[in-house]
Amino acid sequence: MSVTRVLTGITTSGTPHLGNYAGAIRPAVAASRRPGVESFYFLADYHALIKTADPARVQRSTLEIAASWLACGLDPDKVWFYRQSDIPEIPELTWLLTCVAGKGILNRAHAYKAAVDKNREVGEDDDAGVTAGLFMYPVLMAADILMFKAHSVPVGRDQIQHIEMARDFGSRFNHLYGEHFVLPEAAIEENVATLPGLDGRKMSKSYDNTIPLFAPRDELRKLVFSILTDSRAPGEPKATEGSALFQLYQAFATPAQAAEFAAAFAAGIGWGEAKQALFELLDAELAPLREKYEALMARPDHIEAVLRAGAEKARAIATPLMLELRRAVGLRDLREQAGGKKAAKAKAALPVFKQYREKDGRFHFKLVDAFGRELLVSEGFASPREAGELVAALKGGVGEDAFHGQALHLRGAAVATLAEGIAPADAIAALAAFAEEGA
Ligand code: TRP
Repeated sequence: MSVTRVLTGITTSGTPHLGNYAGAIRPAVAASRRPGVESFYFLADYHALIKTADPARVQRSTLEIAASWLACGLDPDKVWFYRQSDIPEIPELTWLLTCVAGKGILNRAHAYKAAVDKNREVGEDDDAGVTAGLFMYPVLMAADILMFKAHSVPVGRDQIQHIEMARDFGSRFNHLYGEHFVLPEAAIEENVATLPGLDGRKMSKSYDNTIPLFAPRDELRKLVFSILTDSRAPGEPKATEGSALFQLYQAFATPAQAAEFAAAFAAGIGWGEAKQALFELLDAELAPLREKYEALMARPDHIEAVLRAGAEKARAIATPLMLELRRAVGLRDLREQAGGKKAAKAKAALPVFKQYREKDGRFHFKLVDAFGRELLVSEGFASPREAGELVAALKGGVGEDAFHGQALHLRGAAVATLAEGIAPADAIAALAAFAEEGA
C-alpha cells in the first residue's frame, strides 16, 4: 500500500479556541488514525517569532497547543509530533531554498502585499514596519514541508498560496540539483466546520471573539451566554440561517440532534434555553478532554519529553536528507574528488566499522565516524562471521524503527547500543553514507 504523508504546522502564538478544534485539531486527529497515512504535526514556533516578540507568550502557547493536541487524542507514537525549533535542519534548508526562491514571487505573497498596501494607504514607505521575517515566511514554510516530503498539506484557504510557493521553490531546486523533493498539494477540507465567534463573524483571535477550547466550565458557560443573538422573545420563531448559536450547535451535534434543535428554533425556543442547550452539548464533548488537558498542563516536563522524542524521530528523516542536499549543492567534504571518480570518492570521510575481540573471547564491532567519534557499540558475538554479517547488514542502512530506545535491533535481537550522546539520527545518517557509497 502506498503511504500518503500529511503534514501541517500550528503557529505557537495563541491559545487554541473552539474554531481551531473543529477546523483543525479534531479532523487532524481523526485523519491520523486512518491506515495508509503518515501524519506530521508540528509546532511552528519559528513562525511565531514573525508574529510576536513576546517570549512568554511563545512559550505559553507552545505548551498550550502541545497539551491541546495530546488531550484531543493525538498519539505521538503513531505520528510525528515535534517542535520546529528542535529541528536545526529546517533553518538550514530554509537557506538553501532562499537561494533558489524568486524574490518577485515573495513580493506577491498575500501577507506581505497586505502590509505594503496598508503602508501605501497611509502614505508610508512600502516596507515600513515590515521585517525580513515576514517577507521570508513562505520560504521557512516551504522548508517545513519539503523537508519531510509531504504529499498533502491540510491548511485554510489563506494558506494555499504558500503551498504553491513551496511547490515552486521545490521544483526550482529539483531542476537545478536533481530530484530531491516531493511537490506538495494543499488539502482544503470542504466539509470541515468554520465556526462563527461570539459576534457572529468567523471565530478568530484577530476579532477577539473566540471561545478558548479549554476554558473552565463556568467560563465556557459565561461565554456561550454572551453569544450575540437577535431580540426575538421566547415563543417567537427563530431563524437558524445566520445564527451563530445554531452553527456552533451544529458543529458539535449529530445530524439528528441538529434537526431537533432546528425544530426548536422554529417552535420559538427562548435564547436562554437555546444557549443552555449549546453549553451542555459543548461541555459533554469537552469536559473529558479538558480533564486530560489540565493534567497535561500540570506536567510541562512530560510534554517537553514528548516533543524531544518527536524531534528525534523527525530528525531521523531530516538529518540524512540534509546531508544529501548539502552534497547536492556542493557543500562537500574537500577530500572528495571533485567531479566523480567513484573509487576515491569520500573514502576518507566515511565512518568505519572496527571489529575486535574482547577478553571474554567474544567478537565485537564499533561504528566510528570520520572524526573518530564512537556512534555504535555492539554486543559480543560467538564468531567473527556472525559479527561480520551484522556489519554487512548494517551497511545496507537502517530505519528509525530499528531503534528501541538506545538499542539497535536487527533480525529481532538487540545487536548494538548507541554511544553516549549519540541520537538514532546520527547513526542512521552514518549508515546511510555506506549505503550510498555502495550504490
Ligand atoms: N503558516 C501556517 C498558518 O499560519 C502555519 C505553518 C507553518 C504551516 N509551517 C507550515 C502549515 C507548514 C502547513 C505546513 O496556519
